[in-house]
Amino acid sequence: MMRNTILLFGIIATFAIAMFGLTILPKMFIDEGVKEPTYFTPFEVTEGHRIFVREGCIYCHSKQVRAEGFGADFERGWGRASVATDYRNLLPHNLGTMRTGPDLANIGARQPGRDWHYLNLYQPRAINEHSIMPPFPWLFEVVSEDARPGREGLRLPEAYRIPGMKVLPTDEARYLVTYLISLDQQIAGVD
Ligand code: HEC
Repeated sequence: MMRNTILLFGIIATFAIAMFGLTILPKMFIDEGVKEPTYFTPFEVTEGHRIFVREGCIYCHSKQVRAEGFGADFERGWGRASVATDYRNLLPHNLGTMRTGPDLANIGARQPGRDWHYLNLYQPRAINEHSIMPPFPWLFEVVSEDARPGREGLRLPEAYRIPGMKVLPTDEARYLVTYLISLDQQIAGVD
């Protein structure tokens, strides 16, 4: 009887400790300094997020910055540590696990130029000739230089230009870039 009581107590204690360590304690940290969430997200951003998921960007780019003192994220200039409200509006949260490329949690602050993003998506090697990021040409259309007057094509380096043609971002590329630029830690998270 005594042994059964000890066993039962042990089981309960194991669950209680696990629950405290895995749910109660993290929640206490998460609640610290978190801003009230806002529930409005512009259409372009939700669409961009959908395309980000569809294209599998998360297989190479995480979206979670570790706190200063945990790894080298802070020294790399990836921004402050991520907090719960950074992920408040968009599902799936896609924090990512792989870092073949840099973390993108604060890319909107680091790289706010739309043209830069278009070029990087159309052909990463137009920016960095040794880039291992795949190009996403299906997010762009190649049209004759005279087509769509008033719309300027991407400024491609000589090696990637197509004579007589210009490269224009599609709506999908525009939404994706709006989403990437919205990934700015100033907008979300702690004060
Ligand atoms: C196979 C891995 C891979 C995939 C998939 C990938 N990238 Fe990348 N990305 C990289 C690497 C590696 C870099 C670092 C620079 C380089 O090599 O071009 C990078 C760089 C970037 C940068 C610049 C980061 C900075 O800090 O300057 C952005 C923005 C970016 N990628 C966005 C995307 C988006 C959006 C997608 C999906 C449409 C995507 N990447 C898919 C590997 C990948």
